[in-house]
Amino acid sequence: MTVTDLAGVSKIAHAHGVLSIVDNTFMTPYLQRPLELGADIVIHSATKYLGGQSDLVAGLVVVKDAQLAERLAFLQNATGGVLGPFDSFLLIRGIKTLAVRMDRHVANAEKAARWLQAHDAVARVYYPGLPEDAGYAINRKQAKNGGAMISFILKDHYDYRAFFKSLRLIILGESLAAWNRWCAIRRR
Ligand SMILES: Cc1ncc(COP(=O)(O)O)c(C=O)c1O
Repeated sequence: MTVTDLAGVSKIAHAHGVLSIVDNTFMTPYLQRPLELGADIVIHSATKYLGGQSDLVAGLVVVKDAQLAERLAFLQNATGGVLGPFDSFLLIRGIKTLAVRMDRHVANAEKAARWLQAHDAVARVYYPGLPEDAGYAINRKQAKNGGAMISFILKDHYDYRAFFKSLRLIILGESLAAWNRWCAIRRR
């Protein structure tokens, strides 16, 4: 949940003659536009917010430089890594509702983060939308708000296994949540 200064990193990259690539999956183009902050390439796992329905595995690569776009299109064509027509349809359908879904995700995340912060069992909440968060200032500089990804730590005497087993509203999501859950259980 560490927030990266995108303009700062792009500046350093360009000073050294290298491209800067931003994975904008957690923020989406609705909340943050890295190309405008100096990034050369932006990637998204469209499996997450862009698709939005957990019925699709897809990814996007976005550039603003025509030459770079041509190189990437050549590689894409050569390797055959292109989305099929039906998956493309699902993704376009998902993107149409991105703005309304993100507004609700963020409103929910802000509420959940505050609630967790005040909870007795919680030692620490990581959410860049909270003014107390280390990434808050950079986030406000480069994005519309803190997005909807939250992380938190329970106090020492709480059993994570029991915690995960007791969850009723939070379910496993495509790839991301399943992975996080697996890591958390494995650590114990
Ligand atoms: C931030 C981020 N980027 C990229 C990916 C890869 O996504 P996909 O599973 O759609 O290939 C993930 C997957 O969890 C992710 O969390």
